[in-house]
Amino acid sequence: MTITAPASISTHGEIDLSARSFWAKSAAERDAAFVVLRRENPVPWSRPVESELLPPELNTRGFWSLTKQEDIRAASRNPAVFSSADGVIMESFAPEMTELVQSFIAMDAPRHTQLRGITMDAFKPKNMRTLEGWIRGHARDLVDEVAGRGEGDFAVLVSKVLPARIFSSMFGLPPGEMNDRTVDACQRLLAYTDPETCGDKSGLEILADAMTDIHLTAAEMIPERRENPREDLMSWLANAEFDGEKMTDDEIGAFLVMVGVAANDTTRHASAQAIHFFSQHPDQRQLLVDDVPGRIDGAVEEVLRCSHPLNHMRRTLTEDVVVRGQQMLAGENVVLWYCSGNRDEEVFDDPFRFDIERSPNPHVTFGGGGPHYCLGAALARTTLKSLLSEVYTRIPDIHASEPDFLIGNFSNGIKRLPATWTPEKPR
Ligand code: HEM
Repeated sequence: MTITAPASISTHGEIDLSARSFWAKSAAERDAAFVVLRRENPVPWSRPVESELLPPELNTRGFWSLTKQEDIRAASRNPAVFSSADGVIMESFAPEMTELVQSFIAMDAPRHTQLRGITMDAFKPKNMRTLEGWIRGHARDLVDEVAGRGEGDFAVLVSKVLPARIFSSMFGLPPGEMNDRTVDACQRLLAYTDPETCGDKSGLEILADAMTDIHLTAAEMIPERRENPREDLMSWLANAEFDGEKMTDDEIGAFLVMVGVAANDTTRHASAQAIHFFSQHPDQRQLLVDDVPGRIDGAVEEVLRCSHPLNHMRRTLTEDVVVRGQQMLAGENVVLWYCSGNRDEEVFDDPFRFDIERSPNPHVTFGGGGPHYCLGAALARTTLKSLLSEVYTRIPDIHASEPDFLIGNFSNGIKRLPATWTPEKPR
């Protein structure tokens, strides 16, 4: 179905959220564009996104944008109208493909409720508090490995590694080829928009290869975990039942794809962005270093607000609605821009100031609430808290030079972050 909007409400002037070139601009330029949209046209219509995944003839849907935090929250909490069932990235795929890659993040109730329910216990904040010591141990070990070097690419040596180790342990991936292949696939899947990552492959090939690698891991592990269950998430998934039935291999594989990507490609970028922000704002770094235990929670929330590792999620309307006087029709796509909601002047004083003492800090980095709110929020917070506490206690003068950013409309990532610090003396 081709959906077009009346000419009077077409994409706002120079600001083209569908253009690859828009997402290749600096963060400051993109932020400035969203300021204009929030002020002058908070619910703009855009042409179909310039896609790395679909040819133009299959990518015919334009989209509405929600740029105000209030609207993002309202849509997130109204899944009956703002449905996730057609997928949450910009492009609409055939339903089978959506299910294989996006799992229950791209489902509505009741199926979403069932599948989320199976895994919810593992991610509850109280269980994360039990895991805090274990996560802190992973962070300490990793900082042990790099603290004496005095220099290195923080994004590659640390940010990429810590979430991967935590993910592998939680799922029980055996060390070796299977683990490396799976983690690598999780880390490259969302990079399908980045020309450097794609090389001579198309975005669709990158996504399909990564998805196949992860499904292969699930298929290899499931029979063994059904036979010999252990204390890991893969055993839980392989043996969980609802209505007397176990999940299929494809359902478990899709879950591994979604959580593998969610776990590896978000916290990773938030921790690299943290080092970048503190390097740009030495006063804030000093504030943290002066009282790490007292200020770390505020620092993590501000890092989450400013880094928003996922720029957006998409919904599809199940009925006609009006937002800020703008009529939208059933079947149209709506994009929730968390990057904009986190800078909304009506919510945050001086939203462009990086301020680790900001309170309250009601960011929408993990979504705007509602049934799809990030399942891993507590895990991500605990991981960031553990890592940044270790770093700013042990190598407090760490300073990063200009990052190499990932290009794309979905992930707000850092690929490389050269940094230097005073080497820690051997303990
Ligand atoms: C800083 C790190 C993270 C960020 C910024 C982030 C962000 C998000 C966002 C924006 C959503 C969608 C919310 C919505 O549609 O309303 C989401 C969903 C989800 N996240 Fe995260 N996430 C992070 C870390 C994690 C981790 C570490 C895990 C798991 C290990 C995880 C697992 C999930 C899952 C399973 C969902 C789907 C929930 C559902 O549909 O019910 N996330 N996340």
